[in-house]
Formats: sequence, structure tokens, C-alpha cells
Amino acid sequence: MSGASSINVGSYDVHVGAGLLDRAGEIIRTAAPAHRYVIISDANVAPLYAARLRDAVGSAQSELLTIPAGEAHKTRELWSHLTDDLLAAGYGRDTTILALGGGVIGDLAGFVAATYMRGIPFVQLPTTLLAMIDASIGGKTGVDTPAGKNLVGAFHRPRAVIADPAVLATLPPNHLRSGIAEAVKHGAIADAAYYAATNTELPRLLANPASSAMRSLIIRSIEIKASIVLQDEREGGIRRNLNFGHTLGHAIESESGYRLLHGEAIAIGMVLEALLGERLGVTASGTAKRLRDTLTRAELPATIPKDLDLKRILLATHGDKKAREGATEYALVAEIGRAIAGVRAPDETVLEVLTQSVSAQ
Ligand SMILES: NC(=O)c1ccc[n+]([C@@H]2O[C@H](COP(=O)([O-])OP(=O)(O)OC[C@H]3O[C@@H](n4cnc5c(N)ncnc54)[C@H](O)[C@@H]3O)[C@@H](O)[C@H]2O)c1
Ligand SMILES: [Zn+2]
Repeated sequence: MSGASSINVGSYDVHVGAGLLDRAGEIIRTAAPAHRYVIISDANVAPLYAARLRDAVGSAQSELLTIPAGEAHKTRELWSHLTDDLLAAGYGRDTTILALGGGVIGDLAGFVAATYMRGIPFVQLPTTLLAMIDASIGGKTGVDTPAGKNLVGAFHRPRAVIADPAVLATLPPNHLRSGIAEAVKHGAIADAAYYAATNTELPRLLANPASSAMRSLIIRSIEIKASIVLQDEREGGIRRNLNFGHTLGHAIESESGYRLLHGEAIAIGMVLEALLGERLGVTASGTAKRLRDTLTRAELPATIPKDLDLKRILLATHGDKKAREGATEYALVAEIGRAIAGVRAPDETVLEVLTQSVSAQ
């Protein structure tokens, strides 16, 4: 297809190209032929893009289910509402679900597809940068519970992923920057040249999210994540590299009461974990500074918000099953472009780094 690229992720392809939303019908019908198509979207995305997707797959053959926007709705309650709606309307196994939205929609609609009649096909049409380069790749679906995020779910691969960068033009800028943080992570763990190119292109990427520079970024990030999950779909080995910045990042995200977006917390987490690696002697010195400079250029935060309690952040890192005997396992970088997983860091060293981050402000 002209102007579009395809990246193979094992059993399915990810298609990236401006304008693909209007040409999605052919890809969807080929990858997931179905009697009927159900589009699941949220209240922000549906008014902007659902009509175009319905036109592309055929309005007579498709229906739209819209749910409220936001992480608060990635729940079992919404999963059961959606499932009950499908059952009431008599949808059978010859149905394909089209997940049109950010990571919340991808995870929730994917989980509906994974479980409906023991699993029906679905296609992801990610509309945030984070969903394009991260959430829609790797086959994880699921919902949040009061005990924590993503605790109930299933592995269920989409039949195809269709990413149209043109839709990023309407994405709120803070969500765009949040996605950029994951792209920076991909460069940091796997590709020094990609890291450098992203750093150079940052002003252009932020000013024009539908540019060809963004298209290149999306493609390279998908290639990196895809190659990692293809080697390790269920997270025993190399997939852990993707957790760089995430042990401290998740702790900061939850301690902030989710005031910080995921990518904002991960930006802080990457700088802190680079400092940690430098202190432990596993990360080349100067790495934390490079990350801080890049993330600041991306208008992302790089230090812990002053009102957060450092001891509670440390405690939150123990939430991971990784914590054993006063030390937690981290996925760090040896240098920009090269990951090193399974590094055990003593609590007292982590606390020193957290303290250093706050006093550096
Ligand atoms: N399955 C995985 O492997 C995986 C990986 C990373 C993250 N995730 C999940 O992804 C979720 C976060 O995804 P997200 O950041 O995309 O959040 P999101 O789905 O909440 O989208 C962010 C906001 O942007 C709006 N929006 C989306 N696309 C838009 C567009 N093109 N124009 C205007 N507004 C738009 C949404 O309505 C929402 O308000 C989390 O639940 C996280 O757990 C999953
Ligand atoms: Zn992340």
C-alpha cells in the first residue's frame, strides 16, 4: 500500500501510514474477515474518528460501542457491560472487534475479544503515540482492579495493528510527550543511533506530530518492541529490558496519585535509574545527564516532584515481586543503546539516589 509500512510481529503485521484510517477496510477484511465488526472506542476518540472507520469497513456491517474516556474505566465493570451488550445484540464467533483509541481501549477491548466466547479476533487501531509504539504491541490485554493496575488479563494477539500518525494531530500535547518518553526508552535500551536521532528531531516531533519524522519514530519503536517481545512474549528474559525506568517510574506514578501521566513518571524513572546504575558501577557515567537533557528537551519532567515522600516511593518499589532481602531487581542500561537487566540494587543506594534527585532541584 502506498505511503504505508508494514512491520511483521510474528503472526500479525503492524501497518503504519498517514491516512490509513480511511483505507483500513481492506487490511481489516483480509486479516480478520468477519460477518460483523464492532468498534469499541471512547468518548473523546469516537466523535473524531469512528465514522471514518465505519465508512472504511462498511457501515451496514459495523456497530459502534462508546465508553467513557480514561484509565478509571479500564475495569471489570466496563468489561462486563461491553460483553453483555455484545451478547444482547446476538454477536457470534464470526464477529471481529476493532479497538479504536489509546491504550485503555486497546487493553479493555482486547480483553473483551480475548474472553468473548473463549476468544474472537480483534484489530487494534491505536490513536495515541503510547498505544502505537507500546500498548498495541506484544499481545497483553487486561483491566485494572482496586488492588492494582493490569492485574486481570490475558495474552491475546491482534490480527493486525493499524497506526495512522495523522490522528496524533488531535492528541493533547501532554499525552504526545508521554508517548515520546517510551520512544526515548526504546533508544536507550536498544539503539544508540535511534536515541540520537530522536533527540535531534524532538522540536519537530512536538511541533508537528503528523510529520514524517514521527512516522519514522513510530516505525523504529515498533521494530524495537516487536523484536524484543518476539524473543520473549511472556516476560522471562529479554522482555524485562523494556522495564528500564519503570521500577521507580511506576512507584512515582502511583505515589503521585496518578497526577503524573505514565510517560512523565517513566521519564523521571529513567533518569533516576541511570543515576542508580552509575552509582552501582554498571552504567557508563554521563548517561543520566544525557537522558536528563533529552527528556527536558521533550518538555518532560526529570526530577521527583518535591511533595512526594521518598520512603514511600522506595516502599512502592517492593510492590513488585522482584524485591528480596532489602534489594530490588532493576532493568538498567549499561550505556545509551544497551540494556542490562537483573541488577540488584540495595534499598539504601536507591534512597541515596532519590535524595540526590530532590536536592538537585
Ligand atoms: N498492553 C500493553 O502492553 C500496554 C503497554 C503500555 C501501556 N498499556 C496501557 O495503556 C494505557 C495508557 O494508554 P494511553 O496513554 O494511550 O491512554 P488513554 O487510552 O487513556 O488515552 C489518553 C487520552 O487521550 C485521548 N485520546 C486518544 N487518542 C486521541 C486522539 N487521537 N485525539 C484526541 N484524543 C485522544 C483519550 O480519550 C484519553 O483521554 C494504560 O492503561 C496502560 O496500562 C498497555
Ligand atoms: Zn511504560
